[in-house]
Amino acid sequence: MIMVMRSQIFAVLVSVLVWLLLGCSLSYATQEDIDCLRSIKDSLDDSFGYLNSSWNFDNTTEGFICRFTGIDCWHPDENRVLNIRLADMGLKGVFPQGIAKCKSITGLDLSSNKLYGPIPSNISQIIYYVTSLDLSSNNFSGEIPPALANCSFLNILKLDYNSLTGSIPPVLSLLNRIKAFSVSNNLLSGPIPYFNVSLTAEDFAHNPGLCGKPLDPCQSTSKGPKTGIIAGAAVAGVTVAAIGVAIGMFFYYRRVSVMRKKKDDDPEGNKWAKSLKGDKGIKASLSNTSMSDLS
Ligand SMILES: *[C@@H]1O[C@H](CO)[C@@H](O)[C@H](O)[C@H]1NC(C)=O
Ligand SMILES: *[C@@H]1O[C@H](CO)[C@@H](O)[C@H](O)[C@H]1NC(C)=O
Ligand SMILES: *[C@@H]1O[C@H](CO)[C@@H](O)[C@H](O)[C@H]1NC(C)=O
Ligand SMILES: *[C@@H]1O[C@H](CO)[C@@H](O)[C@H](O)[C@H]1NC(C)=O
Ligand SMILES: *[C@@H]1O[C@H](CO)[C@@H](O)[C@H](O)[C@H]1NC(C)=O
Ligand SMILES: *[C@@H]1O[C@H](CO)[C@@H](O)[C@H](O)[C@H]1NC(C)=O
Repeated sequence: MIMVMRSQIFAVLVSVLVWLLLGCSLSYATQEDIDCLRSIKDSLDDSFGYLNSSWNFDNTTEGFICRFTGIDCWHPDENRVLNIRLADMGLKGVFPQGIAKCKSITGLDLSSNKLYGPIPSNISQIIYYVTSLDLSSNNFSGEIPPALANCSFLNILKLDYNSLTGSIPPVLSLLNRIKAFSVSNNLLSGPIPYFNVSLTAEDFAHNPGLCGKPLDPCQSTSKGPKTGIIAGAAVAGVTVAAIGVAIGMFFYYRRVSVMRKKKDDDPEGNKWAKSLKGDKGIKASLSNTSMSDLS
């Protein structure tokens, strides 16, 4: 009897503990998602009032953020955001860093807004689990961050119609789940990295200097090393020539001076040579000098 009661009490205690822990972690997680959306709303200029009218943080029933415009939750009654879709809402501002607090999102669509500035270089720490990222038709500038290669779950990456510059980071080849990738209508140049999926010329069109599959082969990259080699060879040639001239001049002047010496200083040189001939002479001169030094 006592044993049974004890085990029952134990079971109840354990379940209470589990519930407490779960509750804590759940409320913690959802509070972060609420803060995430609040931060996004605060950081963007919402001139048409889409967020202002729909994203109301006053009614805090469980799952209230799941009814916000553009928000999908994992479960309709749980404040845990699955997707953020804010396309074509006239939103203005820089990339909303607060999205990092929505730790469970798998999709982010900010396309067709008025966002500008760089795509954050730590983007992979902001949206690590995202499978679909659409930043197209904004005015993002700067380079495509190589850190996007760390978003290894990406299936879809759309960056077209922005003001992105530089080249496409070769590390993006590591995105081995990619199904769709587009960077058309930017200011990109340089070779297109290899993607393990068939992409079309349209995905890369209207950039000033992109080349390689599926666009035309790169002329500049095959030229680059050659011109480099030619320039190097030219520099080397000039250097060798200069060294040669220097050596030639050195020997020429040495010869001239030796000849002069032979002509002018022959008597003295002869004397010196003669004094070297006899060991005695040297010893004598040495002892002489040492004596004179000592005295
Ligand atoms: C936001 O909406 C409220 C009413 O819902 C309105 O009074 C307020 O002016 C709006 N703010 C902006 C910036 O549109
Ligand atoms: C909060 O929102 C829920 C669901 O939309 C609604 O049923 C409820 O009446 C609202 N509560 C208040 C106080 O507005
Ligand atoms: C991306 O991953 C590499 C290798 O794990 C790491 O060294 C680098 O810091 C990461 N970059 C970012 C921005 O997270
Ligand atoms: C990303 O970098 C910015 C500064 O550039 C920083 O404020 C932010 O906290 C970083 N985000 C994460 C998730 O590390
Ligand atoms: C886009 O950004 C670039 C550079 O950041 C700027 O020169 C250009 O005026 C912007 N375009 C629009 C339409 O805002
Ligand atoms: C390329 O994709 C195919 C199928 O989509 C996959 O089987 C293969 O492992 C991938 N190769 C690399 C190098 O990722």
